[in-house]
Amino acid sequence: MIKSFAAAGTLVLAAFVFGASPVAPPNPPLGFTKISWPSDNPYSVEKVALGKLLYFDKRLSADDTISCATCHDPKYGFTDGAPVSTGIRGQKGGRSAPTVINRAWSLAQFWDGRAATLEAQAVGPIANPIEMGTTHVAVVAKLATIEGYKPLFKAAFGDEKVTIDRVAKAIATFERTVVSGNAPYDKWKAGHASAMSPAAMRGYHVFQKAECDSCHEGANFTSNMYSNIGVGIDSANHDLGRYGITKDDADWGAFKTPTLRDVEHTAPYMHDGSMKTLEEVVDYYDKGGTPNKNLDRHIKPRHLRADEKADLIAFMRALSGTGWRGITEPKSFPQ
Ligand code: HEC
Ligand code: HEC
Repeated sequence: MIKSFAAAGTLVLAAFVFGASPVAPPNPPLGFTKISWPSDNPYSVEKVALGKLLYFDKRLSADDTISCATCHDPKYGFTDGAPVSTGIRGQKGGRSAPTVINRAWSLAQFWDGRAATLEAQAVGPIANPIEMGTTHVAVVAKLATIEGYKPLFKAAFGDEKVTIDRVAKAIATFERTVVSGNAPYDKWKAGHASAMSPAAMRGYHVFQKAECDSCHEGANFTSNMYSNIGVGIDSANHDLGRYGITKDDADWGAFKTPTLRDVEHTAPYMHDGSMKTLEEVVDYYDKGGTPNKNLDRHIKPRHLRADEKADLIAFMRALSGTGWRGITEPKSFPQ
């Protein structure tokens, strides 16, 4: 026993000393199945390293002020802590920045699902006039002048060439390493009876009783589907959500069900950032949302007791896990 531990220790130490990088992707955290890495963008340590630098590098914006992390900041659970995001030159967008956590197990991206993959999503903000405000041609040209990026592109892709496709692939690969699992809920599910508090365990039953799991389902607590729960529907010029993409009446006012992983760290909530706390969210559901012509049939008055609401929130807090917490902004960038 002691012998094998010592041997394993030596191996880890050797890998550390010689800088050897494992070829296999990291294991998924407790609670999750293996990530299916796209065949045209497989995992590599080098791509993660490059993608992380690009993700945090403000030079990807027109005036070097905005990076992906400006709006998806590890400090706020990979969101920006604001109702709607502020992009280049102080411009505000109309929607709240969702978390980048656990996108590895997601389907389409954005509140309305308009990007099919993380690769397709990653290039959007760069050329969005109110986010990073530049163009793909300009950002590729700018990155190509930074000597320090050359060996990193070479290590990740075989040669030094900078292309927008490579930028997207590197950033998406990094994003797939921003994970959250191994939460009290996962440990409890795996059989550790005391891993969740009694309140959280009771809350799990409230979660089922109130049919929250009809949309927030599976390991990532999302069906990856679109529903109308009525948020903001009573405001002037309200966002039509998925309808804007499909023009299908069934999608009128529908938004993608967000993950509830680490939700205690990603306030404010909803596509318009209109709810500041989980208490507000629970009260909203409890009253049956905002009635409208397309309200989902699972949204109805619940008449939960105060203690049931508190338990439901305790359960949501038990979904805070590990994985993403070790990720911090790089200390320096390629020059
Ligand atoms: C100015 C703020 C801002 C910047 C900069 C920004 N984002 Fe976003 N991001 C948002 C907002 C707001 C949304 C939601 C927009 C929507 O759904 O229409 C979003 C959506 C996303 C999503 C979809 C998440 C989901 O659950 O659907 C991902 C992934 C993402 N951004 C990654 C990135 C990456 C990578 C970069 C850098 C290349 C970046 N973002 C730059 C604000 C920003
Ligand atoms: C019909 C599907 C559906 C049901 C049922 C449902 N949700 Fe949601 N949930 C959504 C959608 C869609 C959103 C995003 C809506 C928006 O932004 O307009 C959301 C948003 C949330 C958010 C905010 C997350 C964030 O990152 O902004 C929380 C928290 C939440 N739901 C918890 C619950 C709880 C608790 C219940 C049960 C009481 C529940 N949901 C029931 C579909 C559902």
